[in-house]
Amino acid sequence: MSTARYLIGDVFDRLAGLPDDSVDLVLTSPPFLALRSYLPDDHPDKGKEIGQEPTPAEFLDTLLALTAVWGRVLASHGSIAVELGDSYSGINGGAGGTDPKNVGKGEGVNARRKGDGWPLDKSLCIIPELYAACLSYGRNVLTGEESPAGQWRVRNMVRWVRPNPPVSALGDKYRPATSVIVIATRSRDRWFDLDAVRGESPQNPDKVYKFSATNSGAQNPQTGWTSPGSRKANPGGAPPLDWWEVSPEAYKGSHYATWPRKLLTRPIESMCPSEVCRTCGEPRRRLVESCRVLSDGSTATTDFMGGSRDGGVNQKNAVIKNWHHTERNTLGWTDCGHDDYRPGVVLDPFAGSGTTLAVATGLGRDAIGIDIDERNADLAAERVGMFLDVES
Ligand SMILES: C[S@@+](CC[C@H](N)C(=O)[O-])C[C@H]1O[C@@H](n2cnc3c(N)ncnc32)[C@H](O)[C@@H]1O
Repeated sequence: MSTARYLIGDVFDRLAGLPDDSVDLVLTSPPFLALRSYLPDDHPDKGKEIGQEPTPAEFLDTLLALTAVWGRVLASHGSIAVELGDSYSGINGGAGGTDPKNVGKGEGVNARRKGDGWPLDKSLCIIPELYAACLSYGRNVLTGEESPAGQWRVRNMVRWVRPNPPVSALGDKYRPATSVIVIATRSRDRWFDLDAVRGESPQNPDKVYKFSATNSGAQNPQTGWTSPGSRKANPGGAPPLDWWEVSPEAYKGSHYATWPRKLLTRPIESMCPSEVCRTCGEPRRRLVESCRVLSDGSTATTDFMGGSRDGGVNQKNAVIKNWHHTERNTLGWTDCGHDDYRPGVVLDPFAGSGTTLAVATGLGRDAIGIDIDERNADLAAERVGMFLDVES
């Protein structure tokens, strides 16, 4: 059964208590720069709130210091997925920022968005792209200083597209509707299960990838691999594109910036393994056979397509000519042999109302949330239920 912990306190303090290599996915939305303050003015930790840095360069320093700690707690096969919206420079530059939920709510922090270290007023600060560049190049690209997080591999910059953002003061610009999920890893060979998240092909519906998953939990006689019996069969389909259209979800609790749950299913299923060996740390990886189904219903494996089997060029050409669609069959899951697995762990270091924890536990993963605002733990408890362990 999945478990979730909610750690109340400053993100750096609470991360310091987490062991090395204990997390498989960091999935989070930090406060955006100079857009909103979450804590009441008299809160003892008010000065530690992130997003209140005086300049974009200092905000990047904070994000990179955090990324360095995420790198310590993250298993070598792990990934980070960090959602960032942008901010406009200048007092009246943008009326908030690019996250539509923040539009017009920048009051009280706008005064800081100008002067040395800021772009010209009315200009975007380009924070998501700058953060991704800092990870790729291993330095704060605004100051030139080496990053404490070192170099990362930026694997995607996914645009989260809100189809119907609220209308607000626009002036001479288009209506902001997107933010960016920066996805990065240190390893060349991270855990990534594309087959868990394939969907219908929008380009060519006739030639979709179809699955016939064999997830019975039984041993495959050919390979000896077993598949975890609890796993669902995959619906199959084409690989997702790097922009995701997801509507914000109504939330009645008292938190301003909740994520829609639908946004989180895909990153968790594709980037957080279900099972990780407690002994050697290896996550179980899906073993897939891909084969082409021909118009007459017969099949040819991709090995055959590569010409490695008998049959030669003529047969290969016949396969290409008669190809109807591609099937991908899950043969099983890798097994390191230690037979002692733990669920994958998702960490949200800015957990807010606990959306990540609720979705992760619903998908059979363990979850850890951190938030500086103790009031949010109650919201998370409502969403996650009795399995949430709150630690002050
Ligand atoms: C954008 S919200 C996250 C919302 C969350 N994704 C959800 O669905 O509810 C950012 C959160 O960061 C928290 N926060 C700000 N500074 C922090 C700090 N220094 N340490 C821990 N949490 C902090 C805020 O209290 C806020 O809940």
